[in-house]
Amino acid sequence: MTIEIVAIVAAGANGVIGRDGDLPWRIPSDLKHFKALTLGRPMIMGRRTWASIGKALPGRTTIVVTRDPDFRAEGAEVAASLEAAIERGRAIAERDGVDTVAIVGGGEIYAQALPVCDRVELTEVKFAPDPAGAVAFPRLDPAAWVETARVAGERGLRDEADFDFVSLVRRKTSVPG
Ligand SMILES: NC(=O)c1ccc[n+]([C@@H]2O[C@H](COP(=O)([O-])OP(=O)(O)OC[C@H]3O[C@@H](n4cnc5c(N)ncnc54)[C@H](OP(=O)(O)O)[C@@H]3O)[C@@H](O)[C@H]2O)c1
Repeated sequence: MTIEIVAIVAAGANGVIGRDGDLPWRIPSDLKHFKALTLGRPMIMGRRTWASIGKALPGRTTIVVTRDPDFRAEGAEVAASLEAAIERGRAIAERDGVDTVAIVGGGEIYAQALPVCDRVELTEVKFAPDPAGAVAFPRLDPAAWVETARVAGERGLRDEADFDFVSLVRRKTSVPG
């Protein structure tokens, strides 16, 4: 089975994805979407994103990336480098018979992982949080990425902004970037 490396991210209109160790918005409909995309799949996250979630999410193997050799994450695995995390993610995907390793942030991890991602599942949030001191998602080069699907999100009563669910795949001819 071909295993895809897929970045899953919600980004504001200006690329902002986080602030003060948290998300800059409350969009429960996107958390539901995130769950649907990640359930049953290995999921790689940076140590700060792990801290912001505060626990292992059920039904998924979490791999936390950290340079701290003593770091332990209850209910999750720990990897000392992104490369080691992806290798472990691939092994788990094969073991569990799933076709995806999910890269779920945050900013540092997306920036390093994007060159090896095959697909991006982007929730395009129709709101631009203050960029000062914020964490951002790298700009996607249109020469490298092509949009293959766009679905307008159905904004629920508790969602703080409108949003689209957008799928992008790496162009076959592109060099990683
Ligand atoms: N909107 C979204 O979709 C979304 C998704 C996820 C997160 N976020 C937000 O993003 C923010 C967190 O992002 P962030 O950039 O600050 O942190 P991050 O990417 O979650 O984690 C950074 C940490 O990961 C570890 N790390 C990074 N690269 C590594 C490498 N090559 N090898 C080993 N360890 C490595 C380091 O941990 P140590 O310091 O322990 O060594 C580093 O401090 C939060 O605000 C969060 O809410 C948003």
